[in-house]
Amino acid sequence: MKIAVVGTGYVGLVTGTCFAETGNHVVCVDIDENKVNKMKNGVVPIYEPHLDVLFERNIKQGRLEFTTSLNDAIKDAKIIFLALPTPPDEDGSADLSYILGVADDLGKIITDYKVIVDKSTVPVGTADKVTAALAANLSTDLFDVVSNPEFLREGYAVDDFLKPDRVVIGTSSEKAKKVMGDLYKPYVRQGNPIIFMDEKSAELTKYAANSFLATKITFMNEIANFCEKVGADVDMVRIGIGSDSRIGKRFLFPGIGYGGSCFPKDVQALAKSGKEFGYDFQILDSVMDVNEKQKTIIVPKIKDFFKGDLKGKTIALWGLAFKPDTDDIREAPALYIINELLEEGATIVAFDPEAMENVKSKYGDKVTFVEDRDSAIVNADALVIATEWQVFRNPDFDLMAEKMNQKVIFDGRNLYDTQEMKELGFYYNSIGRIL
Ligand code: UGA
Repeated sequence: MKIAVVGTGYVGLVTGTCFAETGNHVVCVDIDENKVNKMKNGVVPIYEPHLDVLFERNIKQGRLEFTTSLNDAIKDAKIIFLALPTPPDEDGSADLSYILGVADDLGKIITDYKVIVDKSTVPVGTADKVTAALAANLSTDLFDVVSNPEFLREGYAVDDFLKPDRVVIGTSSEKAKKVMGDLYKPYVRQGNPIIFMDEKSAELTKYAANSFLATKITFMNEIANFCEKVGADVDMVRIGIGSDSRIGKRFLFPGIGYGGSCFPKDVQALAKSGKEFGYDFQILDSVMDVNEKQKTIIVPKIKDFFKGDLKGKTIALWGLAFKPDTDDIREAPALYIINELLEEGATIVAFDPEAMENVKSKYGDKVTFVEDRDSAIVNADALVIATEWQVFRNPDFDLMAEKMNQKVIFDGRNLYDTQEMKELGFYYNSIGRIL
């Protein structure tokens, strides 16, 4: 099938590359000429495990192309994916100007039937708005608009795309249903469902999924905070409840709050959208409040330990990305921790396997960056762990004992066994577990 993907951000790039991988011909279009030139030369502009291999292979075999011309990209395409940014505007609602702008352009240049797919996370009702924008210049016989939300996790996006738990397709058109069903068939051979529904339900499914997961994590974070008050162990509680299949084992890990570009934005947008329709999502307001506090919950613990004075203290920081296997620092708890520690007068020495460049460009020399895990802890008065990268799971504790000024760890991701840390003589403070 011939496909065009408009927007080569994270979603567009993964979508385009993975569609090419199953033999489709994909043209990706972006207004950023510099980026397009780099991609033409095989440079993947984002860090996403496994994407580079697929990217290179499909470019080489002529199934993945890049252009800055919308016209060139769409002229032979049967399906056009819109993978454009929907940043929150000042009041938290999703800004649709990019999507509607492109829909308007498409209405002026389309000459034969095409399926236009909303791939970006967009508020309920967007398919109608895209339809209206197209219909302003184009006969409704020449297009159908479909909502096809993505459920890709950063770090696992390629795998999530190639083997999705489910594919959600929102359309009221039988013709579009057939086109989309054929396109996704190779990805659901194991029997996972392609779920067809109306456009609005598909749009809401995406927000509901992300908001539910954010709520699940936030609930566990509150249980963890309460565990610390009563002397219970959140790991035990997590396993205790997670084995109930109605609850499930996944996404129950407490920590220093959810971050990234999706959960914070989508929870906020759903709450906002609720208010617009006269519905008050009280649960989402609480989720946002609790998560905001959770991001810096470790700082008062550090202050307590150092009797309120962090001036002149050196804090090693392991992990800057909002989660492992990404260089994404959007809404990363580490940044909130850095801000508060700097305000308290601490010196920060940080290491992250992928995200340091992104943080450097924000903080300059206010934070010291080192090239490996073990260099960060030299002469540190405490270590803070903000991201659960695999490389932090099995450190050399003897080396740490030798190199650190004090054997003190504040772990926001519960990486180590509390008993073992006690035996090793570390002061080890984690989330929701007995000291
Ligand atoms: C999330 C969803 O998982 C994807 O299905 C969705 O497609 C994507 O948003 C999106 O809307 O584009 P992502 O933001 O990449 O994916 O990351 P997740 O792996 O879901 O983690 C989100 C946050 O939750 C991270 O900050 C992570 O540290 C936190 N988390 C996750 C926990 O604190 N505890 C857990 O048990 C799981």
